[in-house]
Amino acid sequence: MDLVIDELKVFAGNAHPGLAKSVCEYLGIPLGQSEAFKFANDNTFVRILENIRQRDVFIIQPTCAPANDNLMELLIMIDACKRASAGRITAVIPYYGYGRTDKKDQPRVPITGRLVADLLTAAGADRMLTLDLHAGQIQGFFNIPVDELTATPILTDYFKSKELSDLVVVAPDVGISKRARDVAESLNAPLAIIEKRRLGNNDSAEMLNVIGEVDGKVALTFDDEILTGGTIVNAAQALVESGVREVYCCATHPVFSKTAPKLIENSQFQEVVVTDTAPVSDDNRNGKIKVLSVASLLGEAIYRIHKGQSVGAMFND
Ligand code: R5P
Repeated sequence: MDLVIDELKVFAGNAHPGLAKSVCEYLGIPLGQSEAFKFANDNTFVRILENIRQRDVFIIQPTCAPANDNLMELLIMIDACKRASAGRITAVIPYYGYGRTDKKDQPRVPITGRLVADLLTAAGADRMLTLDLHAGQIQGFFNIPVDELTATPILTDYFKSKELSDLVVVAPDVGISKRARDVAESLNAPLAIIEKRRLGNNDSAEMLNVIGEVDGKVALTFDDEILTGGTIVNAAQALVESGVREVYCCATHPVFSKTAPKLIENSQFQEVVVTDTAPVSDDNRNGKIKVLSVASLLGEAIYRIHKGQSVGAMFND
């Protein structure tokens, strides 16, 4: 049987229903009816509350904290959709948790980013839609099509509108420098790089060197995610010690540990700009944190995937 092509269905788990609602507003459709909860034995249960036979189903669920619960709920939703005879299932994972565990760089460690890809495929996902993976190569962990969007234009447009002069874009570690260079080009600014070394497997990092001209400039750090805030706050400190006048930050994913917002509030940053790929609770917001929405970006990509149109064309000038 053919897909019921004009029947696009969007569902949300419990990770970020607010984003899913905004995506549905963009698409002009109601959010699909479903329920997902835990029994007293901690087992997750899911039920799709409407007919999805042969429909084109999108399930929006970032695998942010609580990562294991959100991931398991997503897998179970996919299974429920598959068993309800959905025509095609796309896992929409705005923030792909476990993406940082993407290589065997020590003896006897897992590649959990790959394991999660296998789990999603085994559950029945036909496609994956995501934003700003920790490393682009994670796309290759999947044997199903992956569309990776980027929130970079949303972040750079915001800073273009601020018209900051003497700007320098700063990569807070070498790993993000290629993407930071693209941001620098888009803002017509030079690039500086901070050499950072991780200390073991805990979440602390040691800042080493600022490479590039920053003295007297306004710095904008760019990263894929903020967890503890240690990387960006240490970067801000190093930049101020190297003579920057003001320092701003932008990052796609606000993964935010409990202590991150306070650390940011007390930091040297004028402003830290993130997107809503993961929810930012009211408790985690403060005067320095600005959240921009990716809902229309995701909505447009979902529309194009559904209609068989190019997603890449969204990013061509
Ligand atoms: C690391 O490679 C990432 O790009 C981020 O810099 C890192 O995940 C941020 O973590 P935290 O905020 O805990 O320093």
